[in-house]
Amino acid sequence: MSDPLQHSLNRAAIMSQLTGVLPHLELVDTVDSTNDWLKRRLPDLSSPTVMIAGQQTAGRGRRGRLWHSPADQGLYLSLAVQLSAPLHTLSALSLVAGLAAATAIEASCQAPIQLKWPNDLLLNEQKCGGCLVEVISDPQRSTALHWVIVGVGINLRFATDPDHDPGIDQRWTDLHQAGHAVDINRLAAALIDQLLMHIASFAEAGFAAMRSRWQARDAFDGQAVVVHQGDDQVLHGQAAGVTDAGELLLIRAEGQQRISSGEVSLRRASD
Ligand code: ATP
Ligand code: BTN
Repeated sequence: MSDPLQHSLNRAAIMSQLTGVLPHLELVDTVDSTNDWLKRRLPDLSSPTVMIAGQQTAGRGRRGRLWHSPADQGLYLSLAVQLSAPLHTLSALSLVAGLAAATAIEASCQAPIQLKWPNDLLLNEQKCGGCLVEVISDPQRSTALHWVIVGVGINLRFATDPDHDPGIDQRWTDLHQAGHAVDINRLAAALIDQLLMHIASFAEAGFAAMRSRWQARDAFDGQAVVVHQGDDQVLHGQAAGVTDAGELLLIRAEGQQRISSGEVSLRRASD
């Protein structure tokens, strides 16, 4: 039986479902990484530009990790946008992107998405997507105008199942396996709309204005966690939400500590 849902990308279908700002939109079958494709074309891009690929041969997560991106089994989308904001505030953009993606997925297929600080999308406590935010600033310019590339990967329907290891070293899932059927073009349009809306709201009011919405989806709130900083520093504590700047709040025996994203990895103490 053929699948009534569309898993192949269609430019017209995406454009016709956009409700907000119309970005420049590029679609390709295969690319190394949608983030890298955009980065190579800076600063000549028009803002905003969106790049979507059917598959990535070198999809990237944070800290040089691989993002498994098989053909027509996930959504691999990056947005390049110019943003005027102080550089030190931009680390909150991973959280902003996660909130936008969670909102878009729920609007498209009702899957209840939780967020794992700073950049992961979880469904049923398993990873079903992630965000990779990169900021490119011109050191020669005194203005606070930056290029921001926001990449989002969402697992739609993997041919492999979690018992057949595709090389992902943590618990993962995809929307279909969790019972949520989604049309890739509808999801892509919702994601573009939500990313642009959330980034505009961040530019105007900062992360503080969406902090409570982020915390309502916080997968680790109140739980015992372990924070790995760099290769050797390990902190144990209880997760207690995030600050107005998007830092993780960790309650430790010594008191409360704020953790900024960067080279940090967060896990449940029980994992
Ligand atoms: P940590 O808590 O250590 O930071 P993380 O999941 O946040 O973990 P990232 O660098 O954000 O780490 O994401 C990359 C990781 O995501 C990979 O190391 C792999 O475990 C996992 N991964 C790769 N591809 C996929 C995919 N398609 N779906 C789910 N997880 C994936
Ligand atoms: C993570 O969890 O570490 C983030 C994964 C981000 C994956 C997306 S897929 C589209 C874009 N292109 C990339 O190479 N990475 C991001």
